[in-house]
Amino acid sequence: MSQTASGKPSPTPRRALSPHLQVWRWHITMFSSIMHRVTGFGSTVGLIMLVAWLVSLALGHQAYAAFLTFAASPLGLIVWFLLSLGGFVHLTGGVRHWIWDLGAGFTPKSADQLAFWTMAAGLVLTLAFWACLFASGKVSL
Ligand code: HEM
Repeated sequence: MSQTASGKPSPTPRRALSPHLQVWRWHITMFSSIMHRVTGFGSTVGLIMLVAWLVSLALGHQAYAAFLTFAASPLGLIVWFLLSLGGFVHLTGGVRHWIWDLGAGFTPKSADQLAFWTMAAGLVLTLAFWACLFASGKVSL
């Protein structure tokens, strides 16, 4: 608790408080920033899945068959779709950071546009990726 000039404890803090999610007006740059963190975490889960795939391969035929059964199941396909969406959105978010590192995209308008295109490009890349998988017959429902 902060103190008054007389040294007594003051119920009201004298320092500015950090803004919290509840008092922030929603805007797209905030959303894309949160998404970058969420998809970064999601990509970590993706890496774990990749390791699980390799481990199942090393464990032998039965384990690998079990992994493939899960991978091709409806739940597995939802997991892969979400991981790919997270991966592509994180990738385009990374490109956005690179653009910022070049010193561009900092005006409120361009920051909003960049945030929008980051999300949109991530979604389009994901849909294109899955369209390729279905078109090549590697994935089917
Ligand atoms: C499997 C691959 C990846 C994993 C597991 C991963 C994971 C993460 C995680 C956990 C964070 C921290 C998020 C936070 O706490 O705010 C992060 C941040 C970041 N990632 Fe990734 N990432 C991956 C790939 C990439 C790629 C390919 C790019 C670039 C195209 C990238 C660019 C970035 C950048 C620029 C940040 C820093 C964001 C900031 O400063 O707020 N990442 N990543």
